[in-house]
Amino acid sequence: MKKFPPLLSDFPVIAHGGDYNPDQWMHRYPEVLTEDLRLMDLAGCNTFSVGIFAWSHYEPKEGDYHFEWMKDLLDKLHAAGKVVALATPSGSKPAWISKAYPETCRVNEQGLREHHHKRHNHCFTSPVYRKKVADLNRRLAEAFGDHPAVKLWHISNEYSGECHCPLCHQAFQDWLKDRYHTLDELNHAWWAHFWSHSIGDWSEIDPRDSSIDGMRLDWKRFVSHQTLDFMKAEIAALREAGAQQPSTTNMMGAFRDLDYWRFAEVVDIISDDAYPQWRNNEKDLEMAAVLACVHDMHRSMKQGKPWMLIESCPDAPQWHATSRLKRPGVYRSEMLQAIAHGADAIMYFQWRKGLGGMEKFHGAVVDHEGSENTRVFQQVAHMGRTLEQLAPIAGCTTHAEVAILMDWDVRWALEASVGPLKIPSEDLYMTPVFQAHRSYWKQGIATDILESLSDFSGYKLIVAPQLYLLKPGVVDRLQQFIEEGGTLILTYLSGVVNESNLCFRNGFPGGGLRELCGVWAEEIDYLYEDEVQEISFSTDNSFALSGSWQTQRTCERIHAEGAEVLATFDHDFYAGNPALTRNRRGNGSVFYLAAKMGDDFWQAFTAAIHQDLKLSTILNTDLPDGVHLRSRTDGEREFIFMQNFNSAPVKLDLGNWSATCMESGEAVAGTLSLPAWQTRILERPL
Ligand code: GAL
Repeated sequence: MKKFPPLLSDFPVIAHGGDYNPDQWMHRYPEVLTEDLRLMDLAGCNTFSVGIFAWSHYEPKEGDYHFEWMKDLLDKLHAAGKVVALATPSGSKPAWISKAYPETCRVNEQGLREHHHKRHNHCFTSPVYRKKVADLNRRLAEAFGDHPAVKLWHISNEYSGECHCPLCHQAFQDWLKDRYHTLDELNHAWWAHFWSHSIGDWSEIDPRDSSIDGMRLDWKRFVSHQTLDFMKAEIAALREAGAQQPSTTNMMGAFRDLDYWRFAEVVDIISDDAYPQWRNNEKDLEMAAVLACVHDMHRSMKQGKPWMLIESCPDAPQWHATSRLKRPGVYRSEMLQAIAHGADAIMYFQWRKGLGGMEKFHGAVVDHEGSENTRVFQQVAHMGRTLEQLAPIAGCTTHAEVAILMDWDVRWALEASVGPLKIPSEDLYMTPVFQAHRSYWKQGIATDILESLSDFSGYKLIVAPQLYLLKPGVVDRLQQFIEEGGTLILTYLSGVVNESNLCFRNGFPGGGLRELCGVWAEEIDYLYEDEVQEISFSTDNSFALSGSWQTQRTCERIHAEGAEVLATFDHDFYAGNPALTRNRRGNGSVFYLAAKMGDDFWQAFTAAIHQDLKLSTILNTDLPDGVHLRSRTDGEREFIFMQNFNSAPVKLDLGNWSATCMESGEAVAGTLSLPAWQTRILERPL
């Protein structure tokens, strides 16, 4: 496995910096910029996102453009050796646009056009808005496309939201015409004769009708598509005007409303914003696991290419329900975890706290006090020094043998459907995805996160929790994966609907999965919170798992149709029915797990699979809870991150291998002590 070239050209380091908004300061406090340059050096910060919310400075009145201030800023940053992600400012429009062109303001579900307020308040369809954005983007590209400080285009900011104006509804209807061609096809795909909701004319389609779950799914797809189309138009305008630098947009973890797999295809570099809440108790282990999963997804989006943590908070964001300060060690663990999972940039929101506005109390590198003498500043400066030492890791990637599937279409379809499950306290789809991921992460087994259309070659194991919706071709791809020697884990609620959210006929899991799994899932039982079922392993099964395990809330009554039964239900009217099966096909096999299980089961199941498939781990020993290992490699060396997310120290047995600590340079072997909330980064030859 070789190294990726630097993310930002001629910049072979781990980038460090953040959102920088001198436009808020320059009129009244011009001296702040000079002071910032001094502080940036002290903090070891080298990369800044600028101009994200600067439209009213570029164009205070329609057609009255001002770029000289940005030129001056870029020149100064460049002279100081800093590099820049220059933003397109479409995320927040000046008031004159809303006033002159009310169609640019969003219309909410009740049909009311919003007044000018906040940000991310524009219609993605409005031709006027698209034109205004394209005009400005073109001018920005002309002005700064060849500026030596500009290494990256930061496209807009955290795209999100939907609009119900007539233009958006019309665009939805056009999108549907492209997809279904005839109303007959549409009515069938949506099962629209239900409650007499059949569509007689395209203009009758109103996405707010929640009784048609197929339409709800298509509306989600359309909103994601339209947002992506808007982003593509933004990038096209930059390219038309000659800008060559790569582009990125800041994602929001596994944000519910946008299919980030499609966004990943369009941008050159993946970036994410992460604002985890830490409590210094056992809840942190779950938080760290969720972050690990999301980070793995961002690394996987471009086949292991490093990504940027482009926004994070060095302290407490003001908008968390409880704005608890990050305790010593917490901030550092959070940042190093991102690097462990493939990030080549650590950037903050925000560089400096503003004096007013909604974010004046949001954590920042530079406090209102203004000096380098704050706890937070000193921590960031320490990180700056660490990142210099970690420069050899830039471009390195992680080899994973296990992939977990995460599809937005599946998520949207499940959420659009009324039943079969409702677990108000849980995210219906992401909770099982996170749980499956967590069980591998806890055992130090590297995982990629893929979608059902990704390339499966090279993986030993694919885990597809609740693969409720099947996109066309997915079953064939899974079958090929299994026949060529792969192992697949499917769970209850798989293969229930096709891509239109229509249930399969002829038994679940449908679409060909029934034959592949050798299982028919006849019924799904959704239990009350206080009800418990149990599954037990037969003593003579061919798998290294035994004993009895409690289920949680969801059990399927399934029949083995050729699959080996590894475990059965113990109680109720389905006592004796299969609970876990394995079906061998070609050179591989597929497991079907018919119940929602707890973490204890998933851990044991993962360990048994691990043994069965001889998956690689960094250390061949049981890891203490809360200790996490990840490695990145350049093909010659391995860089190993050992992280303790516990509030108590732990010891790790390194077995027979030895390494060098990247920070202290000392040799490490035998037993390694990891104090609370500490990370050691070790290097060893491969
Ligand atoms: C992000 C946003 C930033 C800033 C930050 C505060 O969602 O992109 O502009 O508002 O949140 O945490």
